[in-house]
Amino acid sequence: MAARAPVETAAMRRAIELAARGLGHTSPNPVVGCVVLDPGGRTVGEGWHQRAGGPHAEVHALRAAGERARGGTAVVTLEPCNHTGRTGPCARALIDAGIARVVYAVSDPTPAATGGAVTLAEAGVDVEGGLLADEAAAGNEAWLTAVLRRRPFVLWKYAATLDGRIAAADGTSRWISSPESRADVHRLRAAADAVIVGSGTARADDPQLGARISGLSDDEISQPLRVVVDSGATAVKAGARVLDGTAPTLIAVAEDADAAHLEGLAPLLRLPRAADGRGLSIPALLQALYERDVRSVLLEGGPTLAGAFLAAQAVDKVVGYLAPVLLGAGPAAVGDAGITTIAQALRLEVTGTERLGPDLRITATPLRHSRHEEN
Ligand SMILES: NC(=O)c1ccc[n+]([C@@H]2O[C@H](COP(=O)([O-])OP(=O)(O)OC[C@H]3O[C@@H](n4cnc5c(N)ncnc54)[C@H](OP(=O)(O)O)[C@@H]3O)[C@@H](O)[C@H]2O)c1
Repeated sequence: MAARAPVETAAMRRAIELAARGLGHTSPNPVVGCVVLDPGGRTVGEGWHQRAGGPHAEVHALRAAGERARGGTAVVTLEPCNHTGRTGPCARALIDAGIARVVYAVSDPTPAATGGAVTLAEAGVDVEGGLLADEAAAGNEAWLTAVLRRRPFVLWKYAATLDGRIAAADGTSRWISSPESRADVHRLRAAADAVIVGSGTARADDPQLGARISGLSDDEISQPLRVVVDSGATAVKAGARVLDGTAPTLIAVAEDADAAHLEGLAPLLRLPRAADGRGLSIPALLQALYERDVRSVLLEGGPTLAGAFLAAQAVDKVVGYLAPVLLGAGPAAVGDAGITTIAQALRLEVTGTERLGPDLRITATPLRHSRHEEN
């Protein structure tokens, strides 16, 4: 096996950057980037998986490289696939192009696609996995989590005052956070397959839930599916901004809800009620979205729904925008999450902090199972 050359590490960094361009466009597939180097180590082709059903990253990069790929190295963020889905297997495309070496970052965990590395090696290609694996896995966090948990990856976002409130006592909340933080939320929406709010937020704010990014045209932005969790079908009415037709919308209602007034306005998702009687079943909601190819969800709250997701252990990552504002009264960022004593507190690991205008953005991941281990 050839030694890892710095040029391969640089190519993998570039491939990870390229992969990120696919975020929001590729579900149910992962994001993947590929750089093809000629035998002299020069970049002769680049590609990324641009949309589900379209060519994979390797195919784009091989096309760009043409004959210059022969005897060269393909640097890919994910193990090349081995199966024929809507497109042919990438392992075969790499062999046919005369690639001599394949360096990939993360092994493909899906049973159908795995085995690409073995196929390549059996064809005499020098194969090496694991290069910048953590960085590449972070770029594919949502897809890898969804494959593992067989439900969409859930990122819960909230904007709070320094005293932890997400609205004033009268329910008004616009705006707690800065324009910079709100622009960041639009980027999160564009990278997500679906955005979810509860009926309380739909009633209070009439949110539009679309992604708008300054400098990008509508064609360049992937709009998420908008989901309102409205058990009784009482919050969303004709004329609601979420029904403006700029992106698909789903209204999740209880199996027994009278939703005749929503017919023709938006598709309904009929779901069982939660076992505790409070709203709809969160696992059933996530399962139904997964079956619709949703692999990443941005949960925008409000606090009641966020509490239910936390209680269901269905939050994978938290992004909190903390604004230097005090309200003194008003709802807290999260409602009842089934935690009654300090020993049950859900603890998180902070994975990032950033200043956005006057605000502080904190990214954190729940330390899973800690509540159960301590009990
Ligand atoms: N600053 C922020 O980041 C932010 C973000 C969002 C909202 N907000 C603010 O939050 C306030 C609204 O808060 P909220 O807590 O009333 O709204 P919410 O969490 O959006 O909606 C709560 C409602 O969702 C429904 N629901 C459906 N399934 C549920 C389940 N399994 N568990 C819990 N609820 C379920 C319930 O009503 P049904 O069962 O009747 O449908 C419940 O009352 C507004 O003032 C809004 O401005 C602030």
